[in-house]
Amino acid sequence: MQYFVHEDISQASTIDTHFYLNEKEFERSKEKIFARTWQFVGDIETLNLQIAEQVYPFTLLDGFIDEPLLFTRDSQDVLHCLSNVCTHRGNKLVEGCASMKQIRCKYHARRFDLTGKFLFMPEFEGVKNFPSEQDNLTKVPFYQWFKFLFVSLNPIAPIETFIGEMQKRLFWLPLQDFVYEPSRKREYLVKAHWALYCENYLEGFHIPYVHSSLNQALDYGNYSTEIYEYSNLQLGIAKDGEDYFDLPAHSPDYGKKVAAYYYWIFPNLMFNFYPWGLSINVVKPINPTLTKVIFLPYVYDGSRLSQGAGADLDRVEREDEAVVVQVQKGISSRFYKSGRYSPKREQGTHHFHRCIAQFMNDEQT
Ligand code: FES
Ligand SMILES: [Fe+2]
Repeated sequence: MQYFVHEDISQASTIDTHFYLNEKEFERSKEKIFARTWQFVGDIETLNLQIAEQVYPFTLLDGFIDEPLLFTRDSQDVLHCLSNVCTHRGNKLVEGCASMKQIRCKYHARRFDLTGKFLFMPEFEGVKNFPSEQDNLTKVPFYQWFKFLFVSLNPIAPIETFIGEMQKRLFWLPLQDFVYEPSRKREYLVKAHWALYCENYLEGFHIPYVHSSLNQALDYGNYSTEIYEYSNLQLGIAKDGEDYFDLPAHSPDYGKKVAAYYYWIFPNLMFNFYPWGLSINVVKPINPTLTKVIFLPYVYDGSRLSQGAGADLDRVEREDEAVVVQVQKGISSRFYKSGRYSPKREQGTHHFHRCIAQFMNDEQT
């Protein structure tokens, strides 16, 4: 199916509910959307990847994309992201985080170095054209921003197209000093399609109606959305008396009482910056009616955790979840296909639907 969301928000209607309801569309979105964009993996400290000759195996979006991958740091201190599947008969190679100099397959003992290069295979004398490029482990595109690691299986564009605006705007943040706080990590199972969860996040329109406490912290009249290519920003301005960033004079936002920068990275990543630090939210599809949402907190100034727009994220999440679950029930109605947007309040949701349409319609994948 081809999707159409008009470029002009004042003429546009929301994406056809077929996208959320059809099982085949959910399957198709794996290659069309998720393989072509960038995923957050974690930070090099938590993944124990700061020292040479360390490996970290992981499954990209387990239960959905399910691609076995491996980060390695070689003896020269260079990081690599590789396929974690043996090039002989397809055995999964590394099982746990470990220190090693070479990767050795446990099935028939093929060996690779930590850059993924084939080294040795027993009993292969006489095999023609061997070893070849195909015997090396496939290298997977990845990117490191401070301590944060991202990967993409088949990127439609360089990661700068996704996170470049956020990097430029927040160049002054000391991200190297942000510390992961596992005790504050949260996981929520939301009984709704992943895109319904994202599109709710992408508008502040519902804040006065759904989030009474957050509405006390944010100045709704000054809430704004900025659209970039594959990301957007919602800028939350603090109400009088509420906490906001101490912005340096060279920040483009200097003079504004910014309570939160809500960056969304297509399709499923949220980087929420508060005066206390950063909450990275990862939205993981499980099936067309079930989504796991993970909040990964990186704290910079713990004394401000309970202040302003970044306080009580758990409550805000529950309020969002409740409404998103109701929408999930509503979109399967015979009488609902799509609706219209508020040009003033729903630019982020409109942008999201436009991105979905663009990726799902792409003939290249
Ligand atoms: S599958 Fe790895 S050596 Fe055979
Ligand atoms: Fe919300």
